[in-house]
Amino acid sequence: QKVRVKVPASTANLGPGFDSLGMALNLYAWIDMAISDQTTIQLLGDQMNGIPTDKSNLIYKVAQMVFQEAGVIYPELEIAMYSDIPLTRGLGSSASAIIGALAGANALIGNKLTPYELFQIASRLEKHPDNVGASLYGGIVVAFWDGERAESIRIEPDVNLEVLVAIPAFQLSTEKARGVMPKQVSMKDAVYNLSHSSLLVAALSTGNLGMIRHAMKDALHQPYRAELIPGMKTLLEQAEHHGALGVALSGAGPTMLALVDARSGQKAELEAFLKDTLAKEGIEAETLWLR
Ligand code: HSE
Repeated sequence: QKVRVKVPASTANLGPGFDSLGMALNLYAWIDMAISDQTTIQLLGDQMNGIPTDKSNLIYKVAQMVFQEAGVIYPELEIAMYSDIPLTRGLGSSASAIIGALAGANALIGNKLTPYELFQIASRLEKHPDNVGASLYGGIVVAFWDGERAESIRIEPDVNLEVLVAIPAFQLSTEKARGVMPKQVSMKDAVYNLSHSSLLVAALSTGNLGMIRHAMKDALHQPYRAELIPGMKTLLEQAEHHGALGVALSGAGPTMLALVDARSGQKAELEAFLKDTLAKEGIEAETLWLR
């Protein structure tokens, strides 16, 4: 018996919702899994350089966690993965691999674990629930992970909400992008983010797209991470004058993300602005319209 799981990419934070907001994007990875006599791991597509194909592979290890949690033993697996999600760009590629492995392994054992239980394992692995929550539940996910437990609520994105991403041609590790953040923040910055993130969730829940412009601002991580991505500061300050509802760093970056009203007449202008701003800094970027 073989199972195939299709998992979406995701964007985390949406600006102010650091480690707590995620949104699924229609860019996918596929994982095939079967119980076997011998473990084989096949990685297809050009996003896979440097990923191990032995039992140290993340998908293999995560699948074993599902079996362990469910109290069954299947040490050998036949795994194949194909992904359109670029690696280390802030589009949740590792979260997609984790969710694909969890869902695939769980399907192989007759779905002994609930999605909530899979979400707990995934959050424990990532230590933040934003990308994994979005990849598991889809839509927009509001979530916390307190070190022991993860809880979440899914919001249905407004039908007119579109996403434009500009994916720079360089990689940036989450570790490095978290490393530039301060260990402590001021009460002023904490309140700034709390209020903006709350307003953003309310705007997204009620379809008040006009409010996104005011809400999608952050003081906790983007000001520090901007030094790692040339052009980011200009995009954060000016993209809304070129048709974006709001703009943010996608996860830990370097991908930049704009939320856009599908009815806006400025889609081509915004896309050109994103590309040109990064190009002026010597950064080649691929743009994609997602939702
Ligand atoms: N919330 C995480 C971060 C997502 O911004 O570091 C990246 O994995």
